[in-house]
Parts: sequence; structure tokens; C-alpha cells
Amino acid sequence: MNRRVLLICLIVVTSAGSAAAADAGKQIVLQGGSNPGATACVTCHGVNGTGNAAAGFPRLAGLSASYLERQLEAFRLGTRTTAVMAPIAKALTGSESASVSEYYAHQHPPAPQTQAPPQQLAAGMRLAITGDWANGIPACVTCHGPAGQGIGGPYFPALAGQHASYTVSQIQAWKDGARTSDPINLMKSVAEALTQEQVEAVAAYFASLPALDKNTSAESVDALAELPPTHAEQTPADHSEGFIPPSEAEIPDNEFGRMVWLGKKVFVHTQQAASKYAGNALNCVNCHLDRGRLASSAPLWGAWPMYPAYRGKNDKVNTMTDRIQGCFTFSMNGSPPPGDSKVMTALLAYSYWLAQGAPTGVALPGSGYPDLPDPELAPSRERGRAVFEGNCALCHGAHGQGKKVDGAYWFPPLWGPDSYNWGAGMHRVNTAASFINANMPLGLGGELLTNQQAWDVAAYIDAHPRPQDPRYENSVEQTDERFHDHNCFYGESGGE
Ligand code: HEC
Ligand code: HEC
Ligand code: HEC
Ligand code: HEC
Repeated sequence: MNRRVLLICLIVVTSAGSAAAADAGKQIVLQGGSNPGATACVTCHGVNGTGNAAAGFPRLAGLSASYLERQLEAFRLGTRTTAVMAPIAKALTGSESASVSEYYAHQHPPAPQTQAPPQQLAAGMRLAITGDWANGIPACVTCHGPAGQGIGGPYFPALAGQHASYTVSQIQAWKDGARTSDPINLMKSVAEALTQEQVEAVAAYFASLPALDKNTSAESVDALAELPPTHAEQTPADHSEGFIPPSEAEIPDNEFGRMVWLGKKVFVHTQQAASKYAGNALNCVNCHLDRGRLASSAPLWGAWPMYPAYRGKNDKVNTMTDRIQGCFTFSMNGSPPPGDSKVMTALLAYSYWLAQGAPTGVALPGSGYPDLPDPELAPSRERGRAVFEGNCALCHGAHGQGKKVDGAYWFPPLWGPDSYNWGAGMHRVNTAASFINANMPLGLGGELLTNQQAWDVAAYIDAHPRPQDPRYENSVEQTDERFHDHNCFYGESGGE
């Protein structure tokens, strides 16, 4: 049999298999499962999984099958406590759960509802797209995918097109402790930080977005992700400690302001806005969170007032331009934009604007990454692997490869050809440990990991292969001796 025939056979066999599963699924939806307690789903979720907004029955159509299956499991285990679903889920057999999930995953999602007032939708959009970092809330889309379409797989469901009443009820369930099905409390920590007003706004916003119909449309999520920029932005309310950069609403509407906006765009969407200078798949914002605004993630407002400064790394007095060029060369594994290029001018304008009112030459609290005390035990890659598998792999991938949605990275890679190179600040174990301790897992910075765990996982990540140090000379040994006399695993293969 030649390869093409074999391939066609395989395709026929798999689609016949899932078609059979979907048929069995439809049977359950209409008539219930083999055990009497597994009542027909159609009464509440509808034959096409559209759900019911007024009753708070979720739409299931188009959610990923593995996510739906995990939720049925959660009802069985009691990590979701609901009087209605628990007995039904318990009465379904394993294969019935799988086939009914498969069936609903392939139904067409319902059209969006848009009754909410525009102001509420705008507030919801702001939260969904930029988060509320002053209160520790990352953007919802970071975990729920571009335009809330989900990331696929078992963990990060679509929110777009979901009934607002259901979304509100789930966030309340997390606040009440009635839902604990989320891995490492990722959603609990978000839910607890949200105010009721925010919950209602963001639920209305996601309900107004069309859910991507994977079954009919070839429309890419990119098109849906093209939302208007978040011009209006509230100044963080209760951020009493530390420097507060100005709100984006204050960016002036003139030539300078346009340069500031461009700088922000380069910083957040480096891959699109400065692709020719980026040699890997990262964006500046991946290591400088909340658009370069977040304290303890080397914010731009903390850097601007501190340059020019002497740096041992290149043994000279560095300007802010040199510093940014350094991040392009090493962190971005690219070629630095020239000092007089538009990209550089834009990044400088954005940094300068963020630092409005900051004193020159004063290291502000929250600048850089915080110093982390030395670990009690020498960092262990072995223990680090366990930390990684339990707390990081669900987003960054089992092999640190990151996670793509629609061909572009949504969760950034931690090692391999698309990550930072062997000369980057992040390849130093102490620097990575301090970044990780303060900022990871996303939304749980400073809350989940112990200092020791941060050191261990940093050692594990930084002993993995990545692009060569651009200062490489002759051999790894020689380069090691010349440039890597610090806390790092330069040149090691990580055993991968
Ligand atoms: C009597 C109404 C009712 C019936 C019948 C019913 N459900 Fe549900 N279902 C609900 C409600 C209400 C929720 C929300 C539960 C909560 O608040 O945690 C839900 C939630 C779910 C969820 C979680 C969705 C998500 O986005 O996390 C899944 C999966 C699900 N149901 C599957 C099924 C399947 C499969 C059947 C049929 C075997 C079924 N349900 C029958 C009312 C029902
Ligand atoms: C750090 C990652 C993360 C962020 C940020 C995040 N979520 Fe989630 N969310 C999750 C995970 C993980 C789940 C799946 C929980 C589970 O498996 O039960 C989830 C599930 C949900 C659900 C339940 C969906 C369903 O079908 O039952 C809702 C509603 C939700 N999130 C709303 C939000 C909103 C609104 C925001 C922004 C304010 C947000 N999330 C931000 C990680 C996140
Ligand atoms: C892989 C992670 C990573 C990426 C991507 C990255 N940086 Fe950095 N950046 C760092 C680290 C690590 C430091 C050093 C922080 C420290 O030691 O306190 C740093 C420092 C800086 C500083 C100086 C901060 C200070 O307080 O002195 C600036 C400015 C900067 N980066 C800008 C950028 C820009 C612009 C981009 C995108 C072109 C970028 N970075 C991309 C990791 C990264
Ligand atoms: C909920 C998903 C999630 C989890 C869990 C998570 N991260 Fe991240 N991580 C992210 C995202 C998203 C970014 C980029 C932040 C941004 O762009 O706003 C990131 C950025 C990073 C970076 C800098 C960028 C890069 O690619 O090098 C490192 C290092 C990192 N994470 C390490 C970790 C470690 C270690 C853990 C486990 C202790 C972890 N992360 C857990 C989502 C996650």
C-alpha cells in the first residue's frame, strides 16, 4: 500500500470512529444514557447545545470535547457541586461521557446576544483584554484565548458566546468555594479579585462576542482578535504603594502621543510590529508584564530614570538605547534596531511617557525584578522538574515549547529555538528565579511557589537547550570561560 492510500484509509477510519461516537452522543442527548439517572440533556442544553440564558444552562456547543469531559468528571468528583448535574454525571458511563462531549463539541455555537449597554460592554472589554493588574487580575484572554475563543484542550475554555447569566454564576461559585475544578487555583484567584460590577461587565462582554464556529467557518481567530484599542483605561484605584504610571487615556492626541502608542504596540506585539528585529517568537511583554507597567517585572518606568548606567555585562556606560538593544540581541535573539530607527524612537517614547513624574536617578520600589534570598538548598533540577510538571507545563507545554493558537504562540516557549538565547538575562538562574517567584504561575506571582521552588524550577528551565549566545567564540568552553562566569548552566542539554 503506498503512503497516500494508507493516509486516506486512516482518515476514513478516524472520521468513521468519531462519527459513530457522535451518533452515540446524540442518542444520549435525546434519550439519556444507559443508567436511569442519566437524563436526556436536551431538556436543558438543547439538542444543539445552545443552552438557555434565562435558566442559566450553559451553551455546550463548540466547547472542546476534552474540556467538557473534564467537567463531567468534576461533577462526579464533587469539585463542582451542583444539585442538578452531579447525579446526571455520576450516572453516565465513561464512554457515554466521551461520546456526548464529542457530540456537543461539534455543534454550531449560537449567535451572540448584545442587549448590554455600551458602557458596560466597554468596561468588560477593558478587563477582558488588559486585565486589572492593580488588583492582581491578568487579562481574561491571556488564559481564554484570542477574543475569548478558548485555547483548545482540557483546561482553557471559550467564554465568547457563553450566556452571561452562566458566566456570572460560575465566578460566584469560585468565590463561594463551590467550584474547585480549576488547576492550581488559577481561576479561583481571578474570581476572588473581581468586583460584582466587573463580573457583570465582563460576562456581558463575552456574551456579546461571536463564538468561533469550528465546524463551518474558515474565519481565523485573528480576525476576531482585531478589537478596537483600549483607549479608555482607569488609573489603578488602590495601588497605594509604589509608582503609578499614567493611564493610557492620558496619552496626548498629537505626534508625540502617536509615537507613544507605536512604542506600546512594539512592546506588546513585537512579533508583528518589529518582526525584522525579533529572532525568536517572544514579545517584550512576555517578561515585562502588563505592557511594561507591572511592578516587579522590570517595568519600563523603573528603567527609564536609571540610564545611562555602567553595566559589567558589556563593560561600558549604557544608554537606555543600549539597554533596549541588549534585550533585542539576547532576550529576543534578534538584531537590534538602530538607535535612530522608528522602532527605537517609539520604544524610548513609550518608556519616557510611562515614567512621567518619576525622579531621575532614583531606584523606585518595584523596579527591576526583586532580589530573591539565596535558597536554603542548592537549586535542584530534579526537584525543579516536579515543580515544572505540577505548575507550569499546563501553559508552557510538557517540553517547555509553549502553546500556539492558530499558528501563533499564545503561551510563550521557555526553551528551544523560539525562546531566549544563552546570553539573555533570563538564562541566569538567579534572574529567572526572581522573575518566576514574583510573576509565575500567571496571576499567582508571589503566592504559590516557595523561594526554594522558584530557584529549583529556574535551574530546571535554564539547563535546557536554547539558541546560541551571539558572543560565541570558537568553542563552548572558551565562550563559557569568557562570558558565563555566573549562576548558569550555559551549554547544557537539559537531558531532553
Ligand atoms: C435539568 C437540567 C440539566 C440537564 C438535564 C443536564 N444539564 Fe448539564 N448543566 C445544567 C446546569 C444548570 C449546569 C451548570 C452547572 C453549574 O452551575 O455548575 C450544567 C453544566 C453542564 C456542563 C459544564 C459546562 C461548562 O461549560 O463547564 C456540562 C459538560 C454538562 N452540563 C453536560 C450535560 C450532559 C452531557 C447532560 C446529559 C447527559 C446534561 N448536562 C444534562 C443543567 C442540566
Ligand atoms: C491564569 C489563567 C486564567 C485567567 C487569567 C482567567 N481564567 Fe477563567 N478559567 C481558567 C481556567 C484554568 C478555567 C477552567 C476551570 C476548570 O477546569 O474548571 C477557567 C474557567 C472559567 C470559567 C468557566 C467556564 C465554563 O464554561 O464553565 C469562567 C466563566 C471564567 N473562567 C471566566 C474568566 C474571566 C471573566 C476572566 C477574566 C476576568 C478569566 N476567567 C481569567 C483560567 C483563567
Ligand atoms: C526573555 C525575557 C525578556 C524579553 C522577551 C525581553 N526582556 Fe527586557 N529584560 C529581561 C531581563 C531578565 C532583564 C533584566 C532585569 C533585571 O535584571 O532586573 C531585562 C531588562 C530590560 C530593561 C532594563 C530594565 C531595568 O530596570 O534596568 C529594559 C529597558 C528592557 N528589558 C526592555 C525590553 C524590550 C524593549 C524588550 C523587547 C524588545 C524586552 N526587554 C524583551 C528579560 C526580557
Ligand atoms: C496560566 C498559564 C501559565 C502558567 C501556569 C505559567 N505561566 Fe509562565 N507565562 C505565562 C504567560 C501568558 C507568559 C507571558 C506573559 C505575558 O505576555 O503577559 C508567561 C511568561 C513566562 C516566562 C517569561 C517568558 C518566556 O517565555 O521565557 C517565564 C520564564 C515563565 N513564564 C515561567 C513559568 C514558570 C516557571 C511557571 C511555573 C512555576 C509558569 N511560568 C507558569 C503563562 C503561564
